[in-house]
Amino acid sequence: MADVVTLTVNGTPHSFALPRDTPLLFVLRNDLSLNGPKFGCGLGECGACTVLMDGVAARACVVRLGTAEGRSITTLEGLGTPERPHPVQAAFIAEQAAQCGYCLNGMIMTAAAFLLRHPDPDLEAVRQALRFNLCRCGTHVEILNAVMRAAREMGAAGAGDKA
Ligand code: FES
Repeated sequence: MADVVTLTVNGTPHSFALPRDTPLLFVLRNDLSLNGPKFGCGLGECGACTVLMDGVAARACVVRLGTAEGRSITTLEGLGTPERPHPVQAAFIAEQAAQCGYCLNGMIMTAAAFLLRHPDPDLEAVRQALRFNLCRCGTHVEILNAVMRAAREMGAAGAGDKA
């Protein structure tokens, strides 16, 4: 029989009677219908499944439910709302930084976590922060522009401490 594991997702506590080794990504997508995080490689290599775990970027395909116990998880859905998007989400829209869009969840979540700790990065720092997030369409220039725009706008708004 599975233990009950409790964690907070987008500010709401949830309990799951599932095997502790269930990938967090499956719980988010299948049990909570949060489809922001994408299944790409399933091996922790592409970044499509990225969420924030206690404010730090984590690859939900390789995080087990048991590891997430008691933690605070933020998905793309919890970062902002359509009416009030997070500055990184707004910047990706403004820069039209998508082609197929499959990588966008990982790019946005990784960038949001990075800007939380590095509010005034240069382009090279952003490039390094996103180097393990894969985009197969080649939208890298627009993605970098979007993160630099978000950094400027978050700095201007004094919003560097937003999650
Ligand atoms: Fe998780 Fe690729 S699906 S890193």
